[in-house]
Amino acid sequence: MDRVTTLSLIEEKKLGNKITALTAYDAPFARMMDEAGVDIILVGDSVGMTVLGRENTLSVTMEEMIHHTRAVSSCVKRAMVVADMPFMSFQISPELALENAGRLIKEGGAHAVKLEGGKSIFLATQSIVEAGIPVMGHVGLTPQSMHRLGGFKVQGKKSGSAKRIMNDAKAVEEAGAFSVVIEAVPVDLARAITDNLFIPTIGIGAGEHCGGQILVMQDMLGISGRTPKFVKKYADIAGIAKNAFAEYIKDVRSSSFPAVEHSYQPAAAKLKVVGGGSLKKKSS
Ligand code: KIV
Repeated sequence: MDRVTTLSLIEEKKLGNKITALTAYDAPFARMMDEAGVDIILVGDSVGMTVLGRENTLSVTMEEMIHHTRAVSSCVKRAMVVADMPFMSFQISPELALENAGRLIKEGGAHAVKLEGGKSIFLATQSIVEAGIPVMGHVGLTPQSMHRLGGFKVQGKKSGSAKRIMNDAKAVEEAGAFSVVIEAVPVDLARAITDNLFIPTIGIGAGEHCGGQILVMQDMLGISGRTPKFVKKYADIAGIAKNAFAEYIKDVRSSSFPAVEHSYQPAAAKLKVVGGGSLKKKSS
């Protein structure tokens, strides 16, 4: 089983094969995805919302990203593990960006990092790539800029903003990125970007013409409690889990769990119940 690499991904694009990507934040789900054959596992800063219960991704820290990236990278055998660089870990200077990218590789065990932005992070991207760390870009709706963008909204609907997103994608490629996520843009814009780039595009809410697709795991498994237009819900894991929890509660309350088969029998020493229900060793 060969590892997915930057070169194998570019080869997939040349062959016209679609690249598959999902987010994961812990070992069990990362292992399941890897065994299912996904190409890229992104430890997204969406962990802030999907796992840590926050309203947006802005407060996610480097320590949190390293913690979750280590959990994922510890068990993945085939997929490429990409770690998101959190807000303010790469915007201040190319030097700080390189230092933090290095931490995600050395301490988190990631194979690559992802940065949101385009032209404005050209130098940061370049310095990370020159140090030998593969970079995935991210253009269109960039959630770390949600306050500037006015929320989580479709981007590139007007010709000015479409041009800006196209230029951002080109800048990402020119800086040396090996692929780029395109989030929440009209289908024709995603197609034009895909056709204009050598590196593969990975779409989320960007239609069918991208080189690959990514979804947030909690969305596609029905755990996040939201199903945006671009998400296909592949399972209702929240429903299954809630039923299991309710059944467990019922079983414990009705004393049907634990049953004999769930208990260690017989006890090593014979015990008898004494007053008040506490246990004491039998004297005889
Ligand atoms: O953080 C994340 O999960 C992402 C995906 C939406 C691409 O950036």
